[in-house]
Amino acid sequence: MHVATSASGDVPLELIELPARPLRPREVRVRVRAIGVNPVDWKMRSGGPLRLAHRLLGPSGPLVVGVDFAGEIVEIGAQSGDLAVGARVVGGTNFARGQRGSYADEVIVQSDQCAILPAEVSFDDAACLPVPYVTAARALREIGRIGHIGHIDHIDHIGPIDPIDPERNAKVLILGASGGVGLAGIQLARALGAEVFGVCSTANVALVERMGATAIDYRKADALDTARAHAPFDFILHAVGTATYALPRCRALLAPRGRVGLVVVRPADYPSLLFRPSVHAVLGKPTRAHLEPLVAMLAAGELSCLIEERFPLADAEKAHVRSKSGKVVGKLLLIP
Ligand SMILES: NC(=O)c1ccc[n+]([C@@H]2O[C@H](COP(=O)([O-])OP(=O)(O)OC[C@H]3O[C@@H](n4cnc5c(N)ncnc54)[C@H](OP(=O)(O)O)[C@@H]3O)[C@@H](O)[C@H]2O)c1
Repeated sequence: MHVATSASGDVPLELIELPARPLRPREVRVRVRAIGVNPVDWKMRSGGPLRLAHRLLGPSGPLVVGVDFAGEIVEIGAQSGDLAVGARVVGGTNFARGQRGSYADEVIVQSDQCAILPAEVSFDDAACLPVPYVTAARALREIGRIGHIGHIDHIDHIGPIDPIDPERNAKVLILGASGGVGLAGIQLARALGAEVFGVCSTANVALVERMGATAIDYRKADALDTARAHAPFDFILHAVGTATYALPRCRALLAPRGRVGLVVVRPADYPSLLFRPSVHAVLGKPTRAHLEPLVAMLAAGELSCLIEERFPLADAEKAHVRSKSGKVVGKLLLIP
């Protein structure tokens, strides 16, 4: 069973049966046990560049929504490496590889898209990881160059980085600290030894502080004005959008070699992305290489996943209404 839509816009999702296909080399079939809901899932449903990219690169037929999943392997194709039937895995689908999305009871992905889960990690917790944690990890490491001074190096698979300043801890500002990406960012930045400041609403101040950041309440005062008292920042993880927190004001808070990682990119940001060396776009595509260290951290109790609500797969529409509210605290899961 798949949750899909054939049209763009406010057309309700449908539960449909699509024919199973045989596996190709390096592919595995996964029986899905939990699905993490991300804003990209409903953004993909409306028209726009994401949907166009899906039309050009994705599989034909209706759009099967979703990326993140956790489950168990039920079939392996030739050359699928160390993955075996029965293995518990977490991963993300990729339409650019012609794959259907993860809102389904079964998905087919390539073996480099899923990481093996140890017994102590639940499917529900694992399903929270792929898009938000990979996005935050790549932003902090590849763009922010955070974590160079002998703190936990679990997410160091990324390879050599050019440290900002090897003599001191980094300072990170997270805009949108209480969302899926923000909460992942706080925990990972703390694990990498950074001092973290997180911008959130009054209702989420306690949560953001519990995760290890100094909270900046944007309801009480202008968040960037308040942040100025703690500047300069080595990295700003911008997970809200530049219509709300404009780039020039963010750049003014940076240390000399500091950078802004834009998680939400608007066409108005293209000139800055092209011509400002301090401004970078973040891409959170989950791969096995990115997921493995995060799974290890979750298994070691170094990350905690906050689940706001679980919905049956058939209620994906309700989960999208909740996600679109912009007020989700932690993650929403779908359970097939
Ligand atoms: N580039 C990529 O690869 C990539 C990957 C993942 C996500 N994204 C995008 O990044 C965005 C965030 O994703 P998410 O999964 O974290 O979303 P989410 O879980 O829905 O969180 C959204 C958060 O935004 C916060 N927020 C709203 N207005 C705010 C403001 N003025 N200042 C600070 N925080 C504010 C809300 O917290 P409060 O209630 O505390 O305000 C809410 O927790 C989405 O647009 C998503 O599509 C992009």
